[in-house]
Amino acid sequence: MTARAGGRGYSRPVLKTPRLLLRAWAAPDLAALVRLADNPAVARNLRDRFPSPYTPADGEAWLELCAGELLQQNWAIECDGEVVGGIGLAARGDVQRLSAEIGYWLGEPHWGRGIATEALVLLTEHVLATRDLIRLDAYVFAWNGASARVLEKAGYVREGVLRRAVVKGGEVCDAWMYARVKER
Ligand SMILES: CC(C)(COP(=O)(O)OP(=O)(O)OC[C@H]1O[C@@H](n2cnc3c(N)ncnc32)[C@H](O)[C@@H]1OP(=O)(O)O)[C@@H](O)C(=O)NCCC(=O)NCCS
Repeated sequence: MTARAGGRGYSRPVLKTPRLLLRAWAAPDLAALVRLADNPAVARNLRDRFPSPYTPADGEAWLELCAGELLQQNWAIECDGEVVGGIGLAARGDVQRLSAEIGYWLGEPHWGRGIATEALVLLTEHVLATRDLIRLDAYVFAWNGASARVLEKAGYVREGVLRRAVVKGGEVCDAWMYARVKER
């Protein structure tokens, strides 16, 4: 289900299931954002551009960046009215301009309730139906079995192993490339 909300005059698609809302990040989310994001167990599975520790200044910078998006790329995930994490796209260019990377995270108290899978399915189907993109992919560190499972449940296929492609927290590991494509 899709609704639309304004944000600085730009279109902000709001996506819904009975318990989830994917909507634009907003200034009142700062405290919840920092509380959930400031956790090494979350950051361990994400790119280094996700700060750890995650300070209020990091949260403010993130909210500012999201407020300035001309085409919405990042959504807060709300479950039963509470912010629980985030999900977003990173557009590619040049010959990969019909692809985007998709990424997501939840605060640790919210793990294990099927929320990431539900959010990923919702955003994937919205994006493939409404944008020119024909491929969404995700880059998973090889120790992150839970995220691999989320992607598989959402119809993504593991296309390959990128050997020793990641260094995170001083540890080198393989990465798995997952993708879901829009068939012709
Ligand atoms: C990974 C993450 C998004 C999962 O969110 P979630 O809402 O708990 O995921 P879901 O409940 O939808 O599904 C998790 C699945 O993984 C399974 N799982 C959990 N731990 C696992 C593990 N160590 N190995 C394999 N599967 C595992 C669960 O059993 C479940 O599968 P099931 O429904 O078949 O039982 C969440 O833990 C998180 O935010 N982690 C930190 C950030 C992160 O890893 N982001 C993704 C980067 S690619």
